[in-house]
Amino acid sequence: MNPQRRPTGYEDVSIELYTGPRSELRRLFELAEDSPTELDSYLYSGRVLVARSGQVVLGHLQLVETDRPGRLEIKNMAVRGTVQGHGVGARLVRAALERAAAESADEMVVATAAADVGNLRFYQRQGFRFRSVERDAFGPATGYPAGLEIDGIALRDRVWLDRTTGPARAERA
Ligand SMILES: CC(C)(COP(=O)(O)OP(=O)(O)OC[C@H]1O[C@@H](n2cnc3c(N)ncnc32)[C@H](O)[C@@H]1OP(=O)(O)O)[C@@H](O)C(=O)NCCC(=O)NCCS
Repeated sequence: MNPQRRPTGYEDVSIELYTGPRSELRRLFELAEDSPTELDSYLYSGRVLVARSGQVVLGHLQLVETDRPGRLEIKNMAVRGTVQGHGVGARLVRAALERAAAESADEMVVATAAADVGNLRFYQRQGFRFRSVERDAFGPATGYPAGLEIDGIALRDRVWLDRTTGPARAERA
């Protein structure tokens, strides 16, 4: 660890594959998914990594296969509200990238709302770059309530980002 990096209080967190009932993680999944019907369609898919402190799950990251071999998707990820901003999300992404590389997957993709500039920042800080935009992906037709806004921006378009797998950015001071 870089000695200049300040301790965050979450150094004891371990990242591991989740083997418990998916339904117990639903609350966390809901932090990242506003459409109950969409969530129902993928809650049980793929694999889930969790960040744990003792028995407490602080965050999760769901990894699913895509239509291209070697490309994995981060389908859903979230960190408990009180723990956000302490590096747990970055550690989950780093673990997913390392696991994917070890399995010879070479590409990771993720989608988020164009309105969510915080998420766009987060993923770019993890080395992802913009790939494409799906206009009008979020709306009543896909189970998202009409009129949803994030920081005053209408929830409407979906942005896809991608990066190669392997080590994420180096830890900074
Ligand atoms: C997005 C999320 C998973 C990030 O997890 P986290 O543990 O809070 O993130 P980290 O503390 O590891 O942050 C890593 C970097 O991203 C930045 N970041 C994280 N969330 C951010 C936000 N909402 N706005 C701006 N920057 C953000 C952090 O400031 C940090 O920046 P730094 O590298 O300059 O220090 C978490 O905030 C969350 O659960 N959000 C709600 C659910 C959600 O929207 N999930 C994503 C769905 S696509």
